Amino acid sequence: MIDSQKIRADFPILSQTVNGKPLVYFDNAATSQKPQVVIDAEANYYKEINANIHRGVHTLSQLATDAYEASRHKIQQHINAKFSHEVLFTSGTTHGINLVANGFASFLKPGDEVMVSALEHHSNIVPWQMLCEKTGAKLVVIPMNETGELIRSEYERLVSDKTKIVTVNHISNALGTINPIKWMIEKAHEVGAAVLIDGAQATPHLKPDVQDLECDFYVFSGHKICGPTGTGILYGKEAWLNKLPPYQGGGEMIATVSFEKTTYAELPHKFEAGTPNIAGGIVLGTAIDYLNAIGFDNIAAYEHELLEYGTKRLLEIEGLKIYGPEVSGLTQKTSVISFNLDGIHPYDVGTIIDKLGIAVRTGHHCAQPIMDFFQIPGTLRASFAFYNTKEEIDALVEAVKRAQMMLS
Ligand SMILES: Cc1ncc(COP(=O)(O)O)c(C=O)c1O
Repeated sequence: MIDSQKIRADFPILSQTVNGKPLVYFDNAATSQKPQVVIDAEANYYKEINANIHRGVHTLSQLATDAYEASRHKIQQHINAKFSHEVLFTSGTTHGINLVANGFASFLKPGDEVMVSALEHHSNIVPWQMLCEKTGAKLVVIPMNETGELIRSEYERLVSDKTKIVTVNHISNALGTINPIKWMIEKAHEVGAAVLIDGAQATPHLKPDVQDLECDFYVFSGHKICGPTGTGILYGKEAWLNKLPPYQGGGEMIATVSFEKTTYAELPHKFEAGTPNIAGGIVLGTAIDYLNAIGFDNIAAYEHELLEYGTKRLLEIEGLKIYGPEVSGLTQKTSVISFNLDGIHPYDVGTIIDKLGIAVRTGHHCAQPIMDFFQIPGTLRASFAFYNTKEEIDALVEAVKRAQMMLS
């Protein structure tokens, strides 16, 4: 059970006013807010153990290294990876995807296919397009239907022995669709293709089990799960990470260097060149502890309640259309409501409701192909977290009604 009032007290930013009104923060899919324990952990790292890692014998360096590696181990357990060296620290989802896409250049030839879905964020489209341009491989797109779900029969038809990698999001950021990734991974593996799962929108709501999914890569961002910006994780199966060439060259990722030849370090260091975001990596572990203490089952159940309530209340507004799947269960859609008012530009509504203290995202949500599919310039997106409340949803509904009155 979630006690939202108690939880809200953990988040200092939520008690402020914006434009003279209490802040209603419904832009959680863009980034989550941070609890006090996370803010304190970041400060404490710099106050107590700041030093560079993996390179000093002095005490502070050892302490910082131990804390960084303990966080890696924690994240390994959180996602149920087999080995902690399968867990790479990155600066975020975008970094993780680019690392893999870049490495795949050594495996692809003209005629090979890279498969993305119609529901992707730009960061899971553009790196693969760049890869295809470089290698002559073809980008194949799994289409979606009117309710914002991938068309399973089309996926089965398109995936073939030409497919070398399938890359799909676990949950769509623009519509909240939960994709059938376990089934998709099975189908891809039947034809020998690797699979990368973009978990940026899933990890705030659920605990992924990478061994159960059997995905080859799973990426996510720390800032969307109450952690610091500039942090993220790339999980990769050991065999794939051993096969992939390093992404960046530099300190830390080498075993030996001479002007004739450099040999690379073992995993995970082969992919972690240079001084990383040490504080961020450690504090990401703190954020994961915080979420696990609340419990992902509790989080999912509460957010689903908000989703059902928000959907019902918003649909009371005449001329309001919601894009994406029906809310029919926990496995169908996450707590994201993408909507528009008939005949009114989403940007105008977003601007007015901001004046009333309500933060939603307006625009194409870095998913222009989805907006093109629906032939709209964008949507308003309200995305709920476990620290939001039904009263805040009521405030959103009133604000949207007011905007509608002013603009029609
Ligand atoms: C589904 C999805 N993929 C990738 C990203 C990119 O994440 P980041 O900007 O943290 O790298 C986002 C961010 O919104 C996202 O929602």
